[in-house]
Amino acid sequence: MTTYWLAPQVYDPGHDAIQEGARLLRDGELVAFPTETVYGLGADARNTQAVENIFTAKGRPSDNPLIVHIADMEMLDELAERVDPISMRLAEAFWPGPLTLVLPLRQGVLSPMVTAGLDTVAVRMPDHPVALSLIAASGCPVAAPSANRSGRPSPTLAKHVREDLDGRIAGLLDGGPTGVGLESTVAMADASGRVHVLRPGGITPEELARVSGCPVELAGEGGAAAAGTVTVNRVEDGLLERHPGQGQREDSFRPRAPGMKYTHYAPKGQLTVVKGADPLAVVQTIVQLLDQDRKAGARTAVLAPREHAPRYEGAADLILPCGSLEDVELAGRELFAALRRMDEEGIAVSYSEAFPEEGIGLAVMNRLLKAAGHRVLEV
Ligand code: TXA
Ligand code: MG
Repeated sequence: MTTYWLAPQVYDPGHDAIQEGARLLRDGELVAFPTETVYGLGADARNTQAVENIFTAKGRPSDNPLIVHIADMEMLDELAERVDPISMRLAEAFWPGPLTLVLPLRQGVLSPMVTAGLDTVAVRMPDHPVALSLIAASGCPVAAPSANRSGRPSPTLAKHVREDLDGRIAGLLDGGPTGVGLESTVAMADASGRVHVLRPGGITPEELARVSGCPVELAGEGGAAAAGTVTVNRVEDGLLERHPGQGQREDSFRPRAPGMKYTHYAPKGQLTVVKGADPLAVVQTIVQLLDQDRKAGARTAVLAPREHAPRYEGAADLILPCGSLEDVELAGRELFAALRRMDEEGIAVSYSEAFPEEGIGLAVMNRLLKAAGHRVLEV
C-alpha cells in the first residue's frame, strides 16, 4: 500500500494526498484514514464491490453492518429517510464528533452490503480534518469500519493499520495518533423518546441525556459493559475457574448493534480483569497470580493506571501503564496500543486492573472486558 503522511491539522481538500485518496475511493479502492476515534478503512458506500472488499480485507463477518461517514448535513439528508428531532438535536450538539446515529435508511442510496440488509443506517461525521477533507473531496458517503483485522484492537496509529492490512488496501493517510482512542458511541432514538446506547464510546450516556433531555438506556443487561460477563472465581489451589456470570451470555445476546456480539480486541494470551473495592487487595491478588504464572514459566504482563503501575515492578515481565485514576480519557487513548503490545511481546498471561465505569470509563471497561473475553476476577 502507499502511505501518504499528512500533518494532522490538514484541512485542505486540494492537498495532493487527499486528492489521491479521494480518487482511489471514487475508483472503488480501499483507503485507510485517521478519525478522532480510531483509524477507519474507507470505501465508497454506494459501490458493492468496494464494500465487499472491506469485509474481505478485514476478515469481517458480513452480517455486521458498517458506519457511513459524512462531511456535511446535506449528505445526511441523502442517506436517512428522516431524522427525528432527538437525533437531530444530538447531531447538532456532537457532530463533528464521536457519535454514530442509527437512522431509517433511504432506500436505494447505499450498497445493501453496508447495512447488512437492515432498514437502518449508522451515520457519523468524524471530527478530524483529514477525514472530513477526504470525504468532501471524494464526494462519496464513506463506509468505514475500524482499520484493523477483525478481532484485533482498533488502530490508534498508522503503523497499526500497516501491521494489520499491508498488502490488502490501496492507500493509507497517516495523520498521527488518533485523539479519543476508542470507537464512537453508537446510539439510536426510539419512537417513545428514549435514547439507546448500542455501543458505549467517546460520547458518554450522561452527555447524551443532558443534550437530548431524554432517558438514556444502555443495551444489554446491566449495561453494555456487563453484558456477557463471565465471573472467574479463585479455587483453593489458586487456579482460576470460569463460571457463567449473571449477565446474558454472548451466544444468547441479541444485540441491536450486530457487531457487539463478536469477539474483539483479544490479545493472543489470556487476559483477566481484576476488580474490587479495595485497590490494595486488587494489587496483592494480581501480584500473587503473576507469581504463580511466572513459576509456571509464562511470560506475563499487567495493565494498570499510572499511579498503580510501579507496584508491579519486578512482579511482571511487562508493565503497561494505561491512563491514570485522574484521567480515564487517557486510558481510552492508550488501551488499544497497550493490548497490541501484549502480542508484540509474546505475553501468555496478563491481568488488568478495572477502571471506574463512569463517563468515558464505561467505554474503556466495555473494550477491556471484550478483550478479556469477559474473564473477570472479583476480589
Ligand atoms: O469510531 C468509530 O465508530 C470507527 C471510526 C472508523 O469511525 N468505526 C467503527 O466501525 O468502529 P465498526 O465497523 O468497527 O463498528 C460499527 C458498529 C458495529 O458495532 C455495528 O454493528 C454497528 O456499528 N452498526 C452499524 N450499522 C448499524 C445499524 N444499522 N444498526 C445498529 N448498529 C449498527
Ligand atoms: Mg471495529
